[in-house]
Amino acid sequence: MITTSLSPNQQLQPLSTAVNAKGHLTVGGCDVVDLAAQYGTPLYIIDEKTLRTAGEQYVEALTRYYPGSSQAIFASKAWSMLAICAIVHQSGLGIDVVSAGELLTALKAGVPGSSIYFHGNNKSREEVDFAIRSGVTVVADNWTDIDLLSELAIDQPARVMVRVTPGIECHTHDYIRTGHLDSKFGFDPNQLLDVLTRLANSPNLRTVGLHAHIGSQIFELQPHVDTVDVLVEWFPKAQALGLSEFNELNIGGGLGIRYTESDDPPSIEAWVRAIAEALVSACQRTGLPLPKLLCEPGRSLVATACVTAYTIGATKTVPGVRTYACVDGGMSDNPRPITYGAKYSAVVANKMQETRRETVTIAGKHCESGDVLLRDIALAPLERGDCLTVFSTGAYNCSMASNYNRLTRPAAVLVADGEATIVLKRESLDDLLRFDCLPERLKS
Ligand code: LLP
Repeated sequence: MITTSLSPNQQLQPLSTAVNAKGHLTVGGCDVVDLAAQYGTPLYIIDEKTLRTAGEQYVEALTRYYPGSSQAIFASKAWSMLAICAIVHQSGLGIDVVSAGELLTALKAGVPGSSIYFHGNNKSREEVDFAIRSGVTVVADNWTDIDLLSELAIDQPARVMVRVTPGIECHTHDYIRTGHLDSKFGFDPNQLLDVLTRLANSPNLRTVGLHAHIGSQIFELQPHVDTVDVLVEWFPKAQALGLSEFNELNIGGGLGIRYTESDDPPSIEAWVRAIAEALVSACQRTGLPLPKLLCEPGRSLVATACVTAYTIGATKTVPGVRTYACVDGGMSDNPRPITYGAKYSAVVANKMQETRRETVTIAGKHCESGDVLLRDIALAPLERGDCLTVFSTGAYNCSMASNYNRLTRPAAVLVADGEATIVLKRESLDDLLRFDCLPERLKS
């Protein structure tokens, strides 16, 4: 058992959450109400302790349960930002990127190319070139990727992995399911022999292994265990084709987190253990030497570490129907409820000692009826100026944030030991106009 602390993905709140003498919520030793006053709202507040703990738990569990070599990689699409990439890298993780922008962010955060993996189903020529020049491993998703890699890896050989669609079904939202056969990602297993044969005949492509990612926010362990079995079968075949460096098995990400009381995901430790044990026993069964085991978590690393603080503005009661309380953000800083029907939990940060005796619906400020962050949630009675704080907002919120209705995107602060540090500046109104051009003839 890992004893350092609780598994962050199983908690509703960051690990450092407490309530102070004023009855205010604190995270990382900082009063959330004070942070909201100082930095404005909406505000992403990142608890360094939770983030580091999650990263360390992946690394520790791999070391504990997998006797071969291993590497956890952060799927930075969950939140690509300098400070986050730097922290997870310090915790011993590599970084997975899917665009030139994410790659640049990881490199600028101090992550060496040798610890970066480049994914994506439509990489541009420039992106593949940038990745090769940076010494990054490129995960070939389709034949076009292999053509581009062959064209570009002339002066410098490219390190390549192959993504396969393992045909594994899992229970999650349709949009975030990727491992079934009708997916835009990865090679169909029927094509894999041709792919590996072509790679075996491409001396400038150093093919190092196989990758699969079956989906996200998954609570079951079995689909990942099954994926291990599907991938393992290909290692002897690849090696028989002459791919002598073929030794990395990347199981992808997908471990779910607890957004609400009723969510019950396995711990980071249990997830890693199930995969590690499945791989060890598959290798014993087939006589395969243990490959290097990689996994690629995104959500379970960053989600629980972050809370979003908002200020309550207007309220509206539809008699006999419901009461709406409106926050100063919404689908632009958290598009997950409107996109996936995602559910969250929340508190009133300045009223932590009051009973949750009112049921309200928290609406965003966008001109869209579906812009509702939390439906029918029990909270302390709300008034204008209250600080509503939503938990578990670290994954895919900031990274999918928009300027819809020309709202400025929030700032983010990193909190630890009672200190807050800005890690993302708030956009200003002027920033919104930075890329607009008003042609001379339209000026009045
Ligand atoms: N590896 C690959 C190749 C991926 O495509 C993903 C996520 C991950 C790893 C990380 O998966 P995670 O551990 O975060 O489940 N925007 C959606 C989630 C999209 C996931 C995309 N791929 C959401 O907000 O739920």
